[in-house]
Amino acid sequence: MKIVSVVGARPQFVKLAPIHKAALAAGVEHVIVHTGQHYDPMLSDVFFEDLGIGSPGVHLGVGSGSHGIQTGAMLAALDGVFDEHRPDWVLVYGDTNSTVAAALSAVKMHIPVAHLEAGLRSFNRRMPEEHNRVMTDHAADLLLAPTQVAVDHLASEGLAERTVLVGDVMTDVLYEVRDRIGSAHSGLLAELDLRAGEYYLATIHRAENTDDPARLTEIATALGDLDRPVVLLAHPRVVAKAATHGIELNQGTLIAHAPLAYPDLIAAALSSAGVVTDSGGLQKEAFLLRVPCTTVRTETEWVETIDLGWNVLANTAEEIAAGVSRARPSDTDATPYGDGHAAARVVDVLLNAAHDARP
Ligand code: UD1
Repeated sequence: MKIVSVVGARPQFVKLAPIHKAALAAGVEHVIVHTGQHYDPMLSDVFFEDLGIGSPGVHLGVGSGSHGIQTGAMLAALDGVFDEHRPDWVLVYGDTNSTVAAALSAVKMHIPVAHLEAGLRSFNRRMPEEHNRVMTDHAADLLLAPTQVAVDHLASEGLAERTVLVGDVMTDVLYEVRDRIGSAHSGLLAELDLRAGEYYLATIHRAENTDDPARLTEIATALGDLDRPVVLLAHPRVVAKAATHGIELNQGTLIAHAPLAYPDLIAAALSSAGVVTDSGGLQKEAFLLRVPCTTVRTETEWVETIDLGWNVLANTAEEIAAGVSRARPSDTDATPYGDGHAAARVVDVLLNAAHDARP
């Protein structure tokens, strides 16, 4: 069997790692196509190196652009790639422009498409990721859902017959990296003279938090006013927007820092007093590491983290300050994101599923 995985943005490289390993273990031919959506070494190359993925077989070099230009360039390039490889499955990941482009290209070429991390919904129709998720789920032949909540969303959209609950592959990679790190501290502590348990780790990159200068200013000020050092791992988009609008990121307790490689990010989260983020992946990673999370969004797809008390939504400066200083949540042994063996299940499902999965 031959699978073509299409990835392009940072969180997709993390999800790709356990899938690649499981595919090789099952003797599956696995071709990795990198769209080039993310091209900075710290957003791309380090993930391939640190997570043992090797190099992509195909690199489209699409780069940045408006949604239409970026997605269109991917679509134009993918037809030829799929035609050359004629895989049994095209596997797409998550909710980025690379996801929807690959799903659309494959479905139009009558190549079976499987969507990993299917069924997530924020119900916020202003998010580009929400458009990408809904369109990808409705185009794909096989929906690999990470959680029961995702399964329920797909059922309510009439997609139950194409859905399989596999668990979350991010749990697989997180557990492996956590065990590899052991008790080693992040390099950040020595570099920034921080003490374990006495700083917050922040990431902010979503369009709704960065594109409006007033909103970005509000968030930077709120973070800089917190009671402990806040290390902001600044996505290039945030650095670019701050520079364009003359917003100072290094203010008060806020320290802007380049993004970290995955193992160092996990180590930095583990040693922190709490995480403040608008990333989907980091909310879940914080939960799995049992680090309290404060999410700078009006809603989240990962509702289990909220229900279990390890995550709170916070939008104003007051809410963010209250979020980071809240009492430590009660311990839980709940496993809403699976057992760390989702990737093997995914490959198994792909091997066994009929190719004419479309109802
Ligand atoms: C994308 C995904 C988002 C995901 C995020 C993870 C979409 C619609 N969004 O957002 O869901 O959470 O990746 O990080 O697909 N840039 C660089 N270097 C790079 C890549 C981007 O400088 O390697 C800058 C460019 O100014 C670019 C901007 O970041 O225009 C936005 O990049 P883009 O890939 O369009 O979206 P992300 O914000 O990264």
